[in-house]
Amino acid sequence: MKSLVQDYIDGVYRDLTGERSGSVADYIPELAVVDPDSFAICLATSDGYVYEAGDSRKKFAIQSISKPFTYALALADRGLAAVATKVDVEPSGEPFNEISLDPVTERPRNPMINAGAITSASLVAGATVAERFERIRRFYSRFAGRELTLNESMFESEDRTGNRNRAIGYLLREYGILEEDPQTTLGVYFRQCSIEVDCRDLSLMAATLADSGVHPVSGDRVLDAGLNERVLSVMTTCGMYNAAGDWVTEVGLPAKSGVGGGILAVLPGQLGLAVFSPRLDEHGNSVRGVRSCRRISKDLELHFM
Ligand code: DON
Repeated sequence: MKSLVQDYIDGVYRDLTGERSGSVADYIPELAVVDPDSFAICLATSDGYVYEAGDSRKKFAIQSISKPFTYALALADRGLAAVATKVDVEPSGEPFNEISLDPVTERPRNPMINAGAITSASLVAGATVAERFERIRRFYSRFAGRELTLNESMFESEDRTGNRNRAIGYLLREYGILEEDPQTTLGVYFRQCSIEVDCRDLSLMAATLADSGVHPVSGDRVLDAGLNERVLSVMTTCGMYNAAGDWVTEVGLPAKSGVGGGILAVLPGQLGLAVFSPRLDEHGNSVRGVRSCRRISKDLELHFM
């Protein structure tokens, strides 16, 4: 059985290797340093076995895939009700970095766009940026099942060029969503985006979400099952930005993408799927990532919605 699945994953990897459309994100200079042809697919089962194809141990920045995990930590630290007063759970239909709040609620529309993600970072407990970031790093590490680290040059690059995110930060402060200096929150947010993962890590992080918040290898209860359910719901409706409708229709799995080229997808109770390929489409989602997930979901009949 194991080699059957491995052969299947190898086949998908081979079939999509030639796909070269899309382009690598370069609005953060350090993102453009990546090899555009890198490609990996990993599938982690709920018993902790990981099928790997391609560059599965190549490191890259987690970027926006950090958002559901920081949201999860904010929920664990503050509770569902308190977080709900700061960030909604509605799809925005806007680009991930839109400088806007919902005109009626005057809150970020969801935690997967930058406005909502910056808000989540402000809600994580910790007295200083360093303390808060360290709690985030440890939390992500428990999802991955190994110690994850910060890529300093990615962080510096992000910090140097992050004026759009600063604009969002000051908007949030003006509306009382942030209760601290936006520079403090952004210090946390820029660092969380610059944590390095590989495709195997992402598949295990996804498998932990699939196992209701329990890591499939260590057995560590990383997240309460009820909060895990909330995170998966928001990933379903908002995880793929304004391609979310197409994704839910075609792939049918809760997912999250990042401009570093990673995508993770979750089949609750069964498996975590991750793809890494840095060339992105117009929405900021990995082209080969979307195509691989679509193909695997169809072939293995994973679409469960
Ligand atoms: O906020 C930013 O611009 C990045 N650090 C994260 C963006 C990201 O990954 C969006 N995803 N597709």
